[in-house]
Amino acid sequence: MFKPIRLLARSVLATSILALLPATAAWAQAYPSKPVSLIVPFAAGGPTDTIARLYGEQLSKTLGQPFLVENVVGAGGVTGTNRAVKAAPDGYTFLVHNVAPHVAGPALYAGATYNPVSDFEPVASLAEAAIYIVVRKDFPAKTLKEFLDYGKANPGKISFASAGSGSATHLACELLKLKAGIDMLHIPYRGTGPALNDLISGKVDMMCDQGLNVGQQLKAETVRALAIAQDSRSKAFPEVPTTREAGLEGLIVNASTAIYAPKGTPAPVIKAVSEALDQAGRSDLILQRLEQLVSERPSGDRMTPDGLKRFTAEEFAKWTTTIKSSGIKIN
Ligand code: MLT
Repeated sequence: MFKPIRLLARSVLATSILALLPATAAWAQAYPSKPVSLIVPFAAGGPTDTIARLYGEQLSKTLGQPFLVENVVGAGGVTGTNRAVKAAPDGYTFLVHNVAPHVAGPALYAGATYNPVSDFEPVASLAEAAIYIVVRKDFPAKTLKEFLDYGKANPGKISFASAGSGSATHLACELLKLKAGIDMLHIPYRGTGPALNDLISGKVDMMCDQGLNVGQQLKAETVRALAIAQDSRSKAFPEVPTTREAGLEGLIVNASTAIYAPKGTPAPVIKAVSEALDQAGRSDLILQRLEQLVSERPSGDRMTPDGLKRFTAEEFAKWTTTIKSSGIKIN
């Protein structure tokens, strides 16, 4: 056959084969064809923002389009989540959130317009960080026991900062109040970044903060840790006792950052993004960075959509029950 005619015949054949392929397959091959938005419902500079930027950079490299963080802050993460749930489910908007406030939002805020389990497609867990009980540098108590004794003798006097009502840093301190039987004054911020600044400058007394946020300040000794709210001591700060060792039973809280897509986002998109994240999560670059950030790669199968789905449903049940039975409220 004459060459141009042969080429034309081949291209007609290729076009007809493409037309026979399911539309989603051809579409998935082209994904992403424009920048992708990662909604972070807390302030820039905090843990959720830091993790979103860390993985966003890797996604941009692997998938060839910018994955850009958009901070949509307020109401303990509910403002940004309300925005994400309404976004077109086309693979160009994701929500990067801390799992505890994500699932607690509807139990705390009448204005939360979503169900954290049924209105989102889970994509992957990204990082986990222990919660440290930290006080301003010159706070009188030197141990958790002294802190709790002070709290009992001075109801409502200790102020604690959080990333907003319903955030992980708020929920952890509410649990501390319940378990220890003390009352403290809650000062909500729009992210743990600004909350920690006020702890460092001594405007507030304490925080239940994520290692990821407070780790560098603990190293610099601008704040002090009284305990870590997990079963074992951490590698980063082995001198800090666990809550149980320090005399407080049952206060185990972990901050887990995850990524979700609005319900209806095509399965090939979820697969492409979760595989790229899983690959990034195993890389030395991310593992080393997470260690520097006093945090870890999620355990078990939580990097997978199914693993995150199970975890989100368990956390939703746990926090909804805890909030209802304990009377935790927003302020
Ligand atoms: C929280 O729930 O406390 C958030 O992780 C805070 C933040 O990312 O700033």
